[in-house]
Amino acid sequence: MRILVTGADGLVGRALVARGGGTVVGAGRDEGDLAEMAVRERLLDKYRPDAVIFCAAFTAVDRAGDADVVTRARRINVDAPGAFARRVPTWWLSSNFVFDGPGPHGPGARPAPLGAYAEQKAEGEAAVLAAGGNVCRVGWVYGPGGRTFGSTLFERLSRGETVRAIADVVVQPTLSTHLADSLLALPVGVSHHIGRDDASWFGFALAVQARVGQGCVIAARLSEMGLAAPRPRDARLAPATLPGWPAGVEELVSLERRARGL
Ligand SMILES: NC(=O)c1ccc[n+]([C@@H]2O[C@H](COP(=O)([O-])OP(=O)(O)OC[C@H]3O[C@@H](n4cnc5c(N)ncnc54)[C@H](OP(=O)(O)O)[C@@H]3O)[C@@H](O)[C@H]2O)c1
Repeated sequence: MRILVTGADGLVGRALVARGGGTVVGAGRDEGDLAEMAVRERLLDKYRPDAVIFCAAFTAVDRAGDADVVTRARRINVDAPGAFARRVPTWWLSSNFVFDGPGPHGPGARPAPLGAYAEQKAEGEAAVLAAGGNVCRVGWVYGPGGRTFGSTLFERLSRGETVRAIADVVVQPTLSTHLADSLLALPVGVSHHIGRDDASWFGFALAVQARVGQGCVIAARLSEMGLAAPRPRDARLAPATLPGWPAGVEELVSLERRARGL
């Protein structure tokens, strides 16, 4: 069995490559723009995968509807996963943002997306399913490395900075390595892959701060953050079966410390 992971430089792609052992090959940005059919065909010829876990995406939620990027965003968020699913067994990552809340939402719930990014994810789901592919919905993922919330949080708190974090949105934080293990089971149809404990970003940040022992966290309302795209206040997914975040925070902090030689 050979699984090709696209978006291999991203948060989820990195975890899949790290956890997949010999069965996973990763294709990152240096392999080209997956919005181009020629690039997709070249990758399929090169790796001859039995399955694709498609993680490449335009993930800047607040920019996805902007006039200068919307066409590019739609090509990778809607068209490319559908095209892959027509060629090879494909598992595509969607988002809890396809729901407007209140949650928890089961796999059969009807999508009701808010904003351009969420609409692209809902359209991507329809395209992948129509082509015989599989949809794996995930929620808020954290993990080490890159410019992710978890990693940036660790870095800023370690420098003694004050961090504002949203307190009035309920999330189900999921560690990228736990998510990767769940995705590698390649469940058929529409599936949910989400941590079992609810939190707010504020609660999560406080837990990181307690372990880092420096910095300060203050609570903010979603409406105070000046975010361009609308966000659901409660787009929880069910069933929530992956390990909860209190243990994951320990793991995140120790991985970040190790990566920085602390
Ligand atoms: N992380 C979360 O909390 C979360 C929550 C819900 C759903 N998801 C979904 O999970 C999937 C993976 O997310 P992630 O957090 O790993 O995202 P990420 O860290 O932003 O990684 C996405 C990767 O895709 C690459 N990419 C973008 N456009 C591409 C293109 N046209 N051709 C080739 N590569 C391209 C990006 O490269 P560049 O950076 O160079 O553009 C990046 O390396 C996405 O479908 C996302 O919507 C994630």
